[in-house]
Amino acid sequence: MAMIAYKCPQHKVVVVDIDKEKIRAWNGSNLPIFEPGLDELVKKTRGKNLFFSTDTESAIREAQIIFVSVNTPTKTFGQGAGRAADLQYWEKTARQILACSRDSKVVVEKSTLPVRTAYAMERILNENSKGVHFEVVSNPEFLAEGTAVRDLEFPDRVLIGSKETEEGFRARKEVVDIYLNWVPRERILESSVWSSELSKLTANAFLAQRISSINSISALCEKTEADVDQVSGAIGMDARIGPKFLKASVGFGGSCFKKDILNLVYICESYGLEKVARYWESVVEINDWQENRFVQNMLVNMFNTVAGKKIALFGFAFKANTGDTRESPAIYVAQGLLAEQAEVAITDPKALKNARKDLKDFKKGVTFEPDPYKAAKGAHAIAVLTEWDIYKGLDYKRILKSMVQPAFIFDGRNILDHNRLYEMGFSVFAIGKAPLRHF
Ligand SMILES: NC(=O)c1ccc[n+]([C@@H]2O[C@H](COP(=O)([O-])OP(=O)(O)OC[C@H]3O[C@@H](n4cnc5c(N)ncnc54)[C@H](O)[C@@H]3O)[C@@H](O)[C@H]2O)c1
Repeated sequence: MAMIAYKCPQHKVVVVDIDKEKIRAWNGSNLPIFEPGLDELVKKTRGKNLFFSTDTESAIREAQIIFVSVNTPTKTFGQGAGRAADLQYWEKTARQILACSRDSKVVVEKSTLPVRTAYAMERILNENSKGVHFEVVSNPEFLAEGTAVRDLEFPDRVLIGSKETEEGFRARKEVVDIYLNWVPRERILESSVWSSELSKLTANAFLAQRISSINSISALCEKTEADVDQVSGAIGMDARIGPKFLKASVGFGGSCFKKDILNLVYICESYGLEKVARYWESVVEINDWQENRFVQNMLVNMFNTVAGKKIALFGFAFKANTGDTRESPAIYVAQGLLAEQAEVAITDPKALKNARKDLKDFKKGVTFEPDPYKAAKGAHAIAVLTEWDIYKGLDYKRILKSMVQPAFIFDGRNILDHNRLYEMGFSVFAIGKAPLRHF
């Protein structure tokens, strides 16, 4: 919404949330999320044509177009628990839009939703006796956290789906016209509402599938002395495969991949497509297995016990350049190590606040330290869990001296210079590479 406000000064954009604390933060100097470039964008627009408010009623009443971006988490109860999308927030919002509206509006699905949600939303919105009509348009969001501002300013594509009726086309055009303020025409794709809804789930499933595919090969590399970076380099030069999203790691995280794939699995099951469901489910299974394998690898190589040993986790965010830790592999690695009674010291430049929340149930055994040198002091091992650039440039000689010997590094992101670290005296274990041991 900040990008729309910035690129469309002729439009007034009001962001509303039921969370008062979040809105207070959006109106203050410490924005509630970290995203490179976002502070500047908000500074340029806030108070001019971008406003943050908790007054949902007025915002709905005044708007011609409403982008609904509420959370659609995995359902934790009842039918479809652990898989289906929990649409209660979306439905509540739709009912609220209906209750507060005095004239017809376009309602845009910005949240990621199961295919055919627009059908249910239209029923809820349009079965009214107020004489108002709502057109539901799907406009899924493809931005990636960490590069969100750039992705929004220069999107690969913007997808806008609507009903293929006269009213549907009119509503679609209203949304297309917003993006035309800065996105080239050929990058704006139009489709049916169902294709648009399903494209978002499919895009995330394909992205996650690439990571699980290369991670599955990383395990085979470790058994055969092949090097996964060399393998991904070789296959990525094939134009049909392409080089992106082929980096082996401790696993993918983030609020979307797992949730969206499980949702896709659930939808396939509900249409009786068991084989398709199992195919996509395996992408999540490989990811869980990779996270677990990482912890097992640490345990086995540290002489089958980490009890009472300090282990520094370098990075807790699910990826670099974000403070977001939702579904971060670091959560599972930390939990695995704590279950083995290790003393876990967590460091991260942006995610410590969220890390504290994620691990609040662990009363002992875990500390949070902004300085990586202090986190590593007295540790038996370092595990790199987020690909923050700062971890590449640390003084590892100094770190090695401050650690218990033999000192271990488990590079869950393959970002460090493994041979150099090995020569210094570390035993180094990377993903999909032969171990570099001193014993
Ligand atoms: N985070 C991403 O990178 C990303 C990318 C693409 C798509 N999405 C999708 O966007 C949606 C939102 O994701 P998110 O990460 O921003 O979730 P979030 O949980 O961080 O934010 C959702 C917000 O909606 C608010 N909310 C809930 N009910 C409301 C209501 N009735 N009225 C007003 N506000 C309400 C919540 O208070 C919360 O602040 C999800 O469907 C997600 O799959 C997210």
